[in-house]
Amino acid sequence: MTRRGSSCRKRSSPCRSDRVAEPSDHRPVLLEEVLTGLAIRPEGAYVDATFGRGGHAAAILERLGREGRLLAVDRDPDAVTAAADRFGDDPRFRVAQGDFAMLRAIAGNNAPANGYDGILLDLGVSSPQLDRPERGFSFRHDGPLDMRMDTTAGETAAEWLARVEVGELEQIIRTLGEERFARRIARAIEAARVEQPIETTARLAAIVDAAVPRRERDKHPATRTFQAIRMAVNAELEALDAALEAAPDLLAPGGRLAVISFHSLEDRRVKRFIRSAAGERPAAVRDSRGRLPPIETERPEVRLRPVGKPVTPGDEEARRNPRARSARLRIAERPA
Ligand SMILES: C[S@@+](CC[C@H](N)C(=O)[O-])C[C@H]1O[C@@H](n2cnc3c(N)ncnc32)[C@H](O)[C@@H]1O
Repeated sequence: MTRRGSSCRKRSSPCRSDRVAEPSDHRPVLLEEVLTGLAIRPEGAYVDATFGRGGHAAAILERLGREGRLLAVDRDPDAVTAAADRFGDDPRFRVAQGDFAMLRAIAGNNAPANGYDGILLDLGVSSPQLDRPERGFSFRHDGPLDMRMDTTAGETAAEWLARVEVGELEQIIRTLGEERFARRIARAIEAARVEQPIETTARLAAIVDAAVPRRERDKHPATRTFQAIRMAVNAELEALDAALEAAPDLLAPGGRLAVISFHSLEDRRVKRFIRSAAGERPAAVRDSRGRLPPIETERPEVRLRPVGKPVTPGDEEARRNPRARSARLRIAERPA
């Protein structure tokens, strides 16, 4: 079994356990665009902070020469096992289990002297996570209401739902799920959990389904609520903020950061972070007496520069891989 933040290289290492049978593979999103954006150099050192099932990692390794290096990170022990199984024999490859909120510590350990040439964050969940009923991410299969990416630590969704205050629950469903019926759903959950703890995905889906008065076309009524609870249980926005903050310091001059987000709240954070790391100041806001703040004369430090415009999947990819439809890729570079 692996420990948090621990790493391994070889098949014989403690990271290896019995092969994880995959109910489905994960198709990497915006693959060519990520490779172009990272401008992979054969002798470069890269971090894939969201290994998943290694779609992006495999393509990066293909482009690396003998001197190249790839550090893979994932907080999901199944992903780490899959990584050790697939690439554990490759001396250029290392995998660590951990939360990318701790990227500075995980990737800073044994980092190349100059820094990394590229860091990838492909946010959200992988298809194997969604497709395994026992992981409790999906309303499509009944299973225990877990939803933790790291199954070795933290509160499950069932435990979280049992204790969260109804006002906070409503707020989370409204903001993280962008759900307009958040109040009705939060109240329905509150009423249901008094009767009996909510411990399965099917029960939660049925409670939400009954609470939602109008349905969206082609969308299960519980989609937004499940997304919101997953993001809260895994503190996904907080982890993203911490990883973004660490990334410029981990990059070598000229090194690139690539972030694929699937949610407007994530993308907005990435956009704002890149702008502020590029030295852009937010527009000055007048105070209650109509006064503008003093003009700042000191030039802000430029830690990153945006590269190109955000990239979204073309029609062909969106048709082949429905999961890619909401994806948005942003690239930034540490100035040389
Ligand atoms: C969209 S999948 C990545 C798919 C991958 N690029 C591929 O091609 O197979 C996201 C992965 O990131 C992991 N993940 C999400 N948040 C994380 C975090 N805060 N720290 C580490 N891993 C995380 C998830 O466990 C999941 O395996």
